Amino acid sequence: MVNIGVLISGSGTNLQAIIDEIDRGRIKGRIKLVLSNRKDAYGLERARKAGIEALYIDKRAFNSEEEYNRKLIDELTKKEVELVVLAGYLKILSEEFIERYRGRIINIHPSLIPSFCGKGCYGDKVHQMVLDSGVKITGATVHFVDEGTDTGPIVLQRAVEVKDDDTVESLKERVLKVEHELLPEAIRLFCENRLIIEGKKVRIKWE
Ligand code: GRF
Repeated sequence: MVNIGVLISGSGTNLQAIIDEIDRGRIKGRIKLVLSNRKDAYGLERARKAGIEALYIDKRAFNSEEEYNRKLIDELTKKEVELVVLAGYLKILSEEFIERYRGRIINIHPSLIPSFCGKGCYGDKVHQMVLDSGVKITGATVHFVDEGTDTGPIVLQRAVEVKDDDTVESLKERVLKVEHELLPEAIRLFCENRLIIEGKKVRIKWE
């Protein structure tokens, strides 16, 4: 059983998808801790309803990003977390954090990386950029996290068609549906030790 820590900043629908897949017995892992940089993140409520320890950590209580990240590391270390999942976590991790959990941090992004990603590309902005660009296909990506923003080796991707009458809301809804399948799937593969990072690529050991 892999100990999982989930970092969130918002509603937590991806967190809920992970909780539900664990409840269905499809993931050889357990969520030991949920951390949020936002007090009003509904994801904290979802965790508590599922009986999972959930902490809001106020960045303002720390003198630097490094100190704040060290606090995150301390809490995750206390719970012996082996896999860190960024599920709508909107802060950049410190180099110390990435070094500490290298190859064991995954993130979900609501586009087909390397399109519509990088600094400043998060949440509704991504879907607005997709609509403004006129592309016909978008999607979601799960990737390992490295020092860059959305640049780590890609684990899984799935495409979503962009419809002519799409709005940010309608597109986001369809992409989220795919995210809720893709992220638990990536976690399942990690927990079954079937992901092999080879440079910029991830190879999946099929059964
Ligand atoms: C998701 O679209 C995720 O890809 C992005 O932030 C959103 C978070 O949604 N990084 P939720 O909090 O999991 O509902």
